Amino acid sequence: MQIDPANIWDKEALPSQGSNDMNANPKASAPDKIKVIGGNPLHGTIPISGAKNCALKLMCASLLTEGDMHFENSPNSLRDMKSQTELLEYLGCKITARGSSMTINAGGVNELTAPYDIVRKMRGSILVLGPLLARFGEARVSLPGGCAIGTRPVDMHIKALEEMGAEIVLDEGYINARAPQGGLQGAKILFPKVSVGATENLLMAATLAKGTTILANAAREPEIIDLGECLIKMGAKIEGLGTDTIRIEGVSSLNGANHSVVPDRIETGTYMVAAAMTGGSVRLQNARLEHLSAAVGHLAQTGVELDQDGQDIIISRETGLRLQGIDIMTEPHPGFPTDLQAQFMAMLAMCEGAGMVTETIFENRFMHVPELNRMGANITVHGHSAIVRGVSKLKGAEVMATDLRASVALVLAGLVAEGETTINRIYHLERGYEDIVGKLGGCGANIRKA
Ligand code: UD1
Repeated sequence: MQIDPANIWDKEALPSQGSNDMNANPKASAPDKIKVIGGNPLHGTIPISGAKNCALKLMCASLLTEGDMHFENSPNSLRDMKSQTELLEYLGCKITARGSSMTINAGGVNELTAPYDIVRKMRGSILVLGPLLARFGEARVSLPGGCAIGTRPVDMHIKALEEMGAEIVLDEGYINARAPQGGLQGAKILFPKVSVGATENLLMAATLAKGTTILANAAREPEIIDLGECLIKMGAKIEGLGTDTIRIEGVSSLNGANHSVVPDRIETGTYMVAAAMTGGSVRLQNARLEHLSAAVGHLAQTGVELDQDGQDIIISRETGLRLQGIDIMTEPHPGFPTDLQAQFMAMLAMCEGAGMVTETIFENRFMHVPELNRMGANITVHGHSAIVRGVSKLKGAEVMATDLRASVALVLAGLVAEGETTINRIYHLERGYEDIVGKLGGCGANIRKA
């Protein structure tokens, strides 16, 4: 049966907001709560990890070669990295991870099906599709899961691969893809909408295709540039990274390479907001200010001071200064990132005056609003926009983490709330924040797992 890929996701296929067991905690006895007592200003240094949203794709790029891929600054302790490791090992890759190093060898890949049980845990796993198809000529990948932040189709990935000559049939929840005889063909692909994942999948697929591929209306995120730079080290021919038109000249094979993962700009932005909200002064080590220009511009408008010292960012707020409300609209990079929207909303909740937050990337990304309101925030949602009227004090409460970035917004609110905040279901946080309790606790926050 042919299924319309634009309508693959229906609400039943997604976990409901109240029962998101997609990433259910496998260790029932492990701590599943974070308790924060608000009021401490942050002072100290926070090391920034490698970007999850890049490392997951670099792991997929390893499927394009028989050679060894060696990664440094890899956020290996994240739950999403463990899910991706499980998937690649299932396909036949040999992986060793130590500290923040990871080595992957895909010379022994003997399985071309990415099964539902692994893929459902994380949307980033759809990124094995392009590399498998390009190197082996076929792939069978379950339709992905991920955060419950709206219907997230993969129609653009599929249509673009079809434009490269692939034959794709959707059946029983799987994408069954086969390259034409002789391999994928270069093509001129115009994405109807900017998509990070579709750009990355096609970028990887095109490295081993016959002839030239042009990706127009491509995404420009720093993670895509980093992925492209790693592919170039592997022998790929790519021009135009960081612009909306990427040109790839296919080559017959790629080699292994060494690569250091770009710092996580979303983790950086999250801790910037933490420092802004609590006051004090925090040095963010090994961050890249230039990857956060939209967020930094908005932070400066609220009254926060930012300095750059080599690869570090120092963020401070004068004691006693009340931050000012601002308006925010999420956009594809270099606009304001949707992955920082919830954190900025937590900050606006305690600013002076009102601010409006408009979400243009995902349609269901305000799930943190009712939880923030439980903590005394005054936020009203109207369609894709939320009006945040600043209050002088947030109050500790028991709240529920619903997705990765929503969860961290609740931790931020807890850092300034009066009394104790208990955040349930912290496995969401463990998908994307390495040692958040240690990093914030090391700067004086009263935070612990329970
Ligand atoms: C990636 C990031 C995610 C971030 C998002 C936007 C990873 C693992 N995740 O997600 O954290 O929030 O970029 O910056 O890197 N869309 C379609 N059809 C498609 C593909 C996407 O309609 O085939 C839509 C999506 O539903 C969404 C928009 O395009 O509305 C952007 O999504 P996309 O950029 O693809 O996000 P992801 O790559 O899934």
